[in-house]
Amino acid sequence: MNRAARRLIITGNWKMHTDLVEGATLVAEVIERTESLALSADLVLCPPYTHLTVAATQLSGRSISLGAQNMHDAPEGAYTGEVSARMLLTSGCRYVILGHSERRSYFGETNESVNGKVKSSISAGLTPILCVGETLEEREAGQTEQVVGEQVREGLSGTDPKTAHGLVLAYEPVWAIGTGRMATPDQADQVHGHLRQVIAEMFGDDFADGIRIQYGGSVKPENAGALMARPHIDGALVGGASLDASSFEAIVRAGLGINGG
Ligand code: 13P
Repeated sequence: MNRAARRLIITGNWKMHTDLVEGATLVAEVIERTESLALSADLVLCPPYTHLTVAATQLSGRSISLGAQNMHDAPEGAYTGEVSARMLLTSGCRYVILGHSERRSYFGETNESVNGKVKSSISAGLTPILCVGETLEEREAGQTEQVVGEQVREGLSGTDPKTAHGLVLAYEPVWAIGTGRMATPDQADQVHGHLRQVIAEMFGDDFADGIRIQYGGSVKPENAGALMARPHIDGALVGGASLDASSFEAIVRAGLGINGG
């Protein structure tokens, strides 16, 4: 299967930005600008937890999907401040971002804890977007493939891909997140190709052929087209530029190879 046979998936990770009113305004603007494009690509918005039910109402019956930025791995329990997969699902989420580098570096998430979340997201019926990526030191030491390979192998350990609801991977080099310094399309595509090979070793060639791998890290309207034109880059996980509906639209258009707006 080549890139053209895999449907593009573009996700906006809003991180801890926007209050409830600003968030609702942004969702409305994104709907206005991108809903027709969502017929040709999967579009996912991941606002903060507090915005989910309002956003779900706005997106109800539309072709843009909702996702969350994290979850706890337990189905329920005495975990003050945490949110379960089922809570996300019943708040209208279809996707959940797991193992984002900010979760790994600021909140102590490990491949093992991410694996627990991946498993419970799948059993609840959510589609995980599993994030992997190397630090600058790891890249400079020539360890990129080893680090991201381990993140995928350990993150997906014990999962059955057939039940994973279209599991998505996201390659986000830590040094490219929020820095304005993106990986070149060649650098990113090379890592994506390696990830596809790791998936093939774990789950077979057919599954690896179909899995979608997003690139994330300083994706902007100006670089999105070149990235998503590469054979192994099936979409984008967009941080800062997803907070502006016109930039998000421009990224989706660039990914689809459609000009103007
Ligand atoms: P930026 O697009 O702001 O670099 O963030 C990338 C990211 O972390 C998306 O999850």
